[in-house]
Amino acid sequence: MLQPAPFPASRPRRLRQAPWMRALVAENVLTPADLIWPCFVIDGEDRAEPIETMPGADRLTIDRLIVKAREAADLGIPAIAIFPYTDAALKTPGAEEAWNPENLVCRATRAVKAAVPGIGVMLDVALDPYNSDGHDGIIEGETILNDETLIALEKQALVQAEAGCDILGPSDMMDGRVGVIRRALEAHDFQNVTIMSYAAKYASCFYGPFRDAVGSGGALKGDKKTYQMDPANSDEALREVATDLAEGADMVMVKPGLPYLDICQRVAAEFRVPTYAYQVSGEYAMLKGAMGNGWLDERAGVLESLMAFKRAGCAGILTYFALDAARMLRE
Ligand code: PBG
Repeated sequence: MLQPAPFPASRPRRLRQAPWMRALVAENVLTPADLIWPCFVIDGEDRAEPIETMPGADRLTIDRLIVKAREAADLGIPAIAIFPYTDAALKTPGAEEAWNPENLVCRATRAVKAAVPGIGVMLDVALDPYNSDGHDGIIEGETILNDETLIALEKQALVQAEAGCDILGPSDMMDGRVGVIRRALEAHDFQNVTIMSYAAKYASCFYGPFRDAVGSGGALKGDKKTYQMDPANSDEALREVATDLAEGADMVMVKPGLPYLDICQRVAAEFRVPTYAYQVSGEYAMLKGAMGNGWLDERAGVLESLMAFKRAGCAGILTYFALDAARMLRE
């Protein structure tokens, strides 16, 4: 890299002297178009249910979700990711509810696409909301079965595409799932359904509040370390991304976000494909907790944490702060 001239020929503070100058030399920008809003849906009518570990991120009935989706679209947010809170009575070892075309997430998708056609809808492809063991795959004894799970994921992906989902997010970390889903989509005339694979998804404690939000935490037996990645690994993330791209992913994701910013940067730099970060529930809970106590400034904290992803090379961020952040950016 070119060396700057020695002081006083170079005075880096010259470029920081006023807001207009800082705006002029800013290397990155954050806009509402960078954000995807993950949201939680419950059955019922005209109801919002608070999530204790995620203050401000309520579970919403479909009618309420539509109102928020419209608000998101009006704020310039391109897409939302809908997660279902599934009634325990619907969870089975085979996770059959995952490919029920009338399941909550399919109904929510149809309703949102009908009411707010201009917003993209993303859905997880993974069995954990429907599996009575809380795992992302089918279990036999202690083992999460890979290839049997792929059969289930294919059926789930197809009902979700049929419901109008625009972006499928395989988040289960089974081997070979992106290829199976891509082939199924092509075979059923869903050529334009996009896949954003959770390519580098780590076995992380930062998903704890999410599991409360979707009601899978209590059900989870053991951990997800035989399929989600080891936090000690970095090169392996590149292999996961390469595999998913070769199998037909259009975009890739790194998850969690801030604690894995090094991975975001490596992936974005190495592959030059649209790379997203998921600022997950535990990150949201940490920031919200500190903000709620007055230990961190909310506006500055939200925007700085999101800008970090842009600086790392991400094309966008899934964040529970999406609506708040978009409002802040509009001010
Ligand atoms: C399910 C899934 C998880 C998240 C998104 N999809 C949890 C998990 O893998 O256990 C986590 C999101 C968050 O923590 O905000 N496969």
